[in-house]
Amino acid sequence: MANNSPNIAIVGGGISGLVLAIALIRRGIKVQVYEQAHAFGEIGAGVAFGPNSVRAMQTCSPEIHTAFHRVATRNQWPDKRNVWFDFMDGYDKDAPVGKEKLLFTLTTEDGANAVHRAHFLDELVKLVPDGVAHFKKHLDTIELPDGDGKVKLLFHDGTEAEADAVIGCDGIKSRTRAWMLGGDDKPGAAPVYTYKYAYRGLIPMQRAVDELGEDNAKNAKMHLGQDGHILTFPVNHGETMNVVAFHATEDDWPDARHLTRSMEKKHVYEDFKDFGPTVQKIIDLLEPNLDCWAIFDTGDHPMEAYNKSRVCCLGDAAHATSPHHGAGAGICIEDAAVMAELLAEPGVAKAGTRGLEAAFRIFSECRRERTQWLVQSSRRTGDLYEWRAEGVGRDVGKIYEECKERDERIWDSQIEELVAEAKESLAAILGA
Ligand SMILES: Cc1cc2nc3c(=O)[nH]c(=O)nc-3n(C[C@H](O)[C@H](O)[C@H](O)COP(=O)(O)OP(=O)(O)OC[C@H]3O[C@@H](n4cnc5c(N)ncnc54)[C@H](O)[C@@H]3O)c2cc1C
Ligand SMILES: *[C@@H]1O[C@H](CO)[C@@H](O)[C@H](O)[C@H]1NC(C)=O
Repeated sequence: MANNSPNIAIVGGGISGLVLAIALIRRGIKVQVYEQAHAFGEIGAGVAFGPNSVRAMQTCSPEIHTAFHRVATRNQWPDKRNVWFDFMDGYDKDAPVGKEKLLFTLTTEDGANAVHRAHFLDELVKLVPDGVAHFKKHLDTIELPDGDGKVKLLFHDGTEAEADAVIGCDGIKSRTRAWMLGGDDKPGAAPVYTYKYAYRGLIPMQRAVDELGEDNAKNAKMHLGQDGHILTFPVNHGETMNVVAFHATEDDWPDARHLTRSMEKKHVYEDFKDFGPTVQKIIDLLEPNLDCWAIFDTGDHPMEAYNKSRVCCLGDAAHATSPHHGAGAGICIEDAAVMAELLAEPGVAKAGTRGLEAAFRIFSECRRERTQWLVQSSRRTGDLYEWRAEGVGRDVGKIYEECKERDERIWDSQIEELVAEAKESLAAILGA
């Protein structure tokens, strides 16, 4: 392999796997993507990206950045372009529909760039050359060679593949993570329930405007309350309003093998019965049957390292977070940018297997603190939104201060600095 670009196998073709594949291909590195599904696909729901993630897309590949902006939607009102969310008092029972009290506003240099997940994934797929993706390949396990040979991937259908290194982008239920930790029964191999779930829905914009008023429908809003919160933001260039309604619970999730289930709308009314008229109206607009998502994360047993020899975990596979910061996918894109820049360093190919191991070690060292902080901070933020955070409760001033500080830690990070630091550490061990 010396002096040759390595062969990288990526397990999983979600946002992480595809962004990483595109970033590596752009840098002349050979990749194969193994996806368990019969085609690339994403569930129909919205996902928002903060400015740190948009900058990381540019580092991964300007084509990703361009593709993203083709499908991204910001707040529709020009004077709210930089608003991340307006935080509203969802518990205000006296305010008529659309007239809840504004508690506070968080802004970024770029507002909330939101996409319909399926549309963004379609754009990413267009950037993946033919012959790179292999479908219906569910990874069962990995075998390491004794020496410098190839790493072997064993799939559920009995087939195998080989690569110089493997990057697990296989999401929250990652097989790669379980293998790295030494088995399904090891702490951290399985994600844990955060005792929150979320109903998700999409509402045609015109209906939302008619019923909720233009500001509520066309700009990002977070309706806060006791033990629950509902957020809405525009997607599809303003044609659709995305809704996510979170609620806390004491009950276990019935079946950890299935993280979503269909629920009747009466449960949403029940959960939000103490909320005010605006929230009731949002629920009225939802379909009679809704997807309900269990919010799981990897926060109870964070991985001690994302690397093991020439195998590495990246994205949700390494650090699945609850979605309260709206930063889970964004941090995956930062991961991909750092990984691609490390693997593209000339010293990596030159050093052969030692180079790949070193790149993965540095990736792990550089990414662990920030990504694991995000998982914990997101839990805390969910509680802040739902007036459950210890020492804060319903104190709006404190909620604002803490949310702002946490969000800015995410948004202000500069990908160039993260990459430069990683490359420096890599050079130090490769002696470049
Ligand atoms: C309700 C909710 C709302 C969210 N909102 C936001 C938001 O607003 N902003 C944000 O930034 N993030 C958000 N997130 C987080 C974001 O969705 C994830 O961080 C992101 O999608 C993770 O991408 P991934 O590619 O790492 O994993 P995934 O998207 O899970 O992709 C993993 C891929 O690997 C495949 N795979 C799995 N196992 C195997 C196997 N054994 N073999 C082969 N293939 C396999 C899967 O089929 C899938 O295609 C939200 C999450 C949730 C649950
Ligand atoms: C992962 O990287 C660390 C350095 O960060 C290193 O000490 C360790 O040996 C690596 N783990 C494995 C299993 O290769």
